[in-house]
Amino acid sequence: MLSREDNELLCRVGPGTPMGQLLREYWLPFLKSSDVERGGQPLRVKLLSEDLVAFRDTSGRVGLLGEHCSHRATSLALARNEDNGLRCVYHGWMYDVSGRCIDMPNEPEETRFADKIRHPAYACTERNGIVWTYMGPREVPPALPDLEWNMVPEDQVVIWRNLQFNNWVQGLEGNIDSSHLSFLHTRLTADGDGFGGGNRGLWYADKTPRMEVRATDYGVMYGAGRKEDPDNSYWRVTQFLMPFYGMFAPVSPAEIPLQWWIPLDDHTVMKWDVRLNPNRPITEEERARLGFGDPGGFAEPNRFDPYTQFRLAADQSNGWLLDYEAQEERRFSGVPSVNLQDKAVQETMGPIVKRHIEHLGTSDAMIIQVRKRLLNAAKALRDHGTTPPGVGQPESYRVRSATTILPNGTDWLEAVGDKLVAFTDRPVESAEAQIRARV
Ligand SMILES: [Fe+2]
Repeated sequence: MLSREDNELLCRVGPGTPMGQLLREYWLPFLKSSDVERGGQPLRVKLLSEDLVAFRDTSGRVGLLGEHCSHRATSLALARNEDNGLRCVYHGWMYDVSGRCIDMPNEPEETRFADKIRHPAYACTERNGIVWTYMGPREVPPALPDLEWNMVPEDQVVIWRNLQFNNWVQGLEGNIDSSHLSFLHTRLTADGDGFGGGNRGLWYADKTPRMEVRATDYGVMYGAGRKEDPDNSYWRVTQFLMPFYGMFAPVSPAEIPLQWWIPLDDHTVMKWDVRLNPNRPITEEERARLGFGDPGGFAEPNRFDPYTQFRLAADQSNGWLLDYEAQEERRFSGVPSVNLQDKAVQETMGPIVKRHIEHLGTSDAMIIQVRKRLLNAAKALRDHGTTPPGVGQPESYRVRSATTILPNGTDWLEAVGDKLVAFTDRPVESAEAQIRARV
């Protein structure tokens, strides 16, 4: 459980909140480069409870501006994307990506009023098809984190995203929760039913992982040990990287996972889900097998409403497509895909889960430590101005998750060793590969 006060502190991310200030110390990967076309229509964006507009100017630079025009507050989502700036359609004021007012045609030139206007604007940068923004206080933003998936060519990654109507921490806590695999995502038939197949963690006989949690420079990690056979243990090593990244254990050698959670506001979060092959492009067959895409598909998107972007059709109104007969015969949850299963349980917890009514057990050890890490970092920043973990330490993000099978009693962290190091040519080994090698 968590006190009401700490829960508020953990979850709220608007301007001036301690957690909001913490998140603003980090770069946020919040759009794909392809979302904003050069000289194309602006996109209304909600980020950390702020109303914003993203666009790509005629020179190709991405801008992220306050949504409401500095003149009379009309939305710049309506604006014209003209020569190197956005022009408000109400009275023609025009802003460049840095927030300078570069034209004010409805005021006399000699007042030089335009020079006095500084419109809210956040720095953006792009790397390998992803747009990052820095909403923090530093004059010079820190370096981007050295996250492997964003530093290899784009054809080595698959990216999925969808909106969830729950607080961002609820999403993150699903990523680092090993024991739910054996329940929520379990299928009841040997061959599965087309969704969630192939992930050993989903059907493992031992449903009681022994959690061993370790603090790291950049966050927290755990080894979750399950019985493989009388002599061996199966370990899933999962990483949390400040402030919102989770790397659960890889399913196959070709697909290293990463998820992150970008809060639109306190009650809405964009889930980003990536698979990375560190060595080569992902094949079409692998892309298909990854199983991204949910029954029901997406609702119709609208560039003026951020809550329609990547919004799944499956939600409370249709019971997340839960099929009660399937619950008896095919899937533990009855909900048809792994992604929808997570969405259903996280959304039904309420927009912000009441953590003061929880009863956490040993299987929740990672969740407890991650909350502490986030809360301590937010309080240290608020009270002492302490630079949060990982900020200005891009190389600390050069890590992976891992799975492995080890003789009982082996120190998993020592044994797993360099499997956790990113940017190596060594193929990623999975437990499945180890099993195949032993047969
Ligand atoms: Fe899950």
